[in-house]
Amino acid sequence: MLKVGVFGVGHLGKYHLNNWKEIEGVKLVGFYDPNEVNAKEVVAHYGLKRFTDADKLIDSCDAIDIIAPTNFHFELCEKAIRKGKHVFVEKPLANTIEEGKELVKMVREANVKMQVGHVERFNPAYMAVKDMQLNPMFIEVHRLAQFNPRGTEVSVILDLMIHDIDIILSLVPSDVKQISASGVAVMTDTPDIANVRIEFNNGCVANLTSSRISMKKMRKMRMFQKDAYIGIDFLQKKTEIIRLQGEADKNAFSFELETPSGKKTIAVTSPEIKDVNAIRMELESFASSIINNTPTAVTEIDGYLAMEVAHQILDKIGNSNVPA
Ligand SMILES: NC(=O)c1ccc[n+]([C@@H]2O[C@H](COP(=O)([O-])OP(=O)(O)OC[C@H]3O[C@@H](n4cnc5c(N)ncnc54)[C@H](O)[C@@H]3O)[C@@H](O)[C@H]2O)c1
Repeated sequence: MLKVGVFGVGHLGKYHLNNWKEIEGVKLVGFYDPNEVNAKEVVAHYGLKRFTDADKLIDSCDAIDIIAPTNFHFELCEKAIRKGKHVFVEKPLANTIEEGKELVKMVREANVKMQVGHVERFNPAYMAVKDMQLNPMFIEVHRLAQFNPRGTEVSVILDLMIHDIDIILSLVPSDVKQISASGVAVMTDTPDIANVRIEFNNGCVANLTSSRISMKKMRKMRMFQKDAYIGIDFLQKKTEIIRLQGEADKNAFSFELETPSGKKTIAVTSPEIKDVNAIRMELESFASSIINNTPTAVTEIDGYLAMEVAHQILDKIGNSNVPA
């Protein structure tokens, strides 16, 4: 049995508890959370042991799951890694670039597994296209959310945009060449809304808008490449692929269009999307990588690279030094 301890049983932490309980081969040892209200609720509802000494919980586990606010990620990860424990840590990996670099080094030295909670990697709408060897050259992203004080200890870039940064880095086979960005702190002391343009060395351009002060929710990524358009709706869990092709595909809705280079067939497909629990999948995947000694699905390097781009964006906006 893989012994797991949970740090932080707030909003997302309770989803993690519900999922850990159901995962085969895992034993939940207990949790640590300084918040009396949340802790009492978890003891009463889940019958799970509360530890008031973080070290004792870490010592009793093989792996820990950190769902505490971002400001605490580094110190909790450090404690666990130094004791040789595997770590699942929510996104963003850490608060500062220095912390992120230090964690990458520590994980390597301790030879433990780390997975970062970039849960959109397990969104079925993304999973439907991730292995298609895409080569997007223009990407347009909107991630809009209503205001919620949770998560505002960091900017909208580290809170929401980082999901899209991670997905884009996983899809574009090239390094970042240049970033331009603007953002405004409307409700909090850090940017709440931002627009960013990331140019890659291969010519791909990604244009990202993130807001946590929107009236409506939206999480859409639209990608354009030679002869194709791919749309991913992370919220509605839908994917649409439109291809320009030589002849009609009988599995697709298609029609013909006159173009400057002759008649083309336009084929529209919506891959079947399985209704999956993305949090369950990411935690199962983490447990499996420990049990089978395989790389985690979202490594500390992935978490660090997304953070690095996020901090370059914050530097461009000029607010990276606003205290969290
Ligand atoms: N992957 C995602 O889509 C996603 C979504 C929401 C939140 N998150 C991340 O999850 C984390 C928590 O977010 P949340 O919305 O659950 O916040 P929350 O405020 O609801 O819960 C955080 C909990 O952590 C506890 N805590 C504070 N300091 C702690 C410490 N030192 N050790 C252990 N617990 C501590 C708090 O008392 C609270 O109960 C953040 O890092 C956030 O970025 C990720």
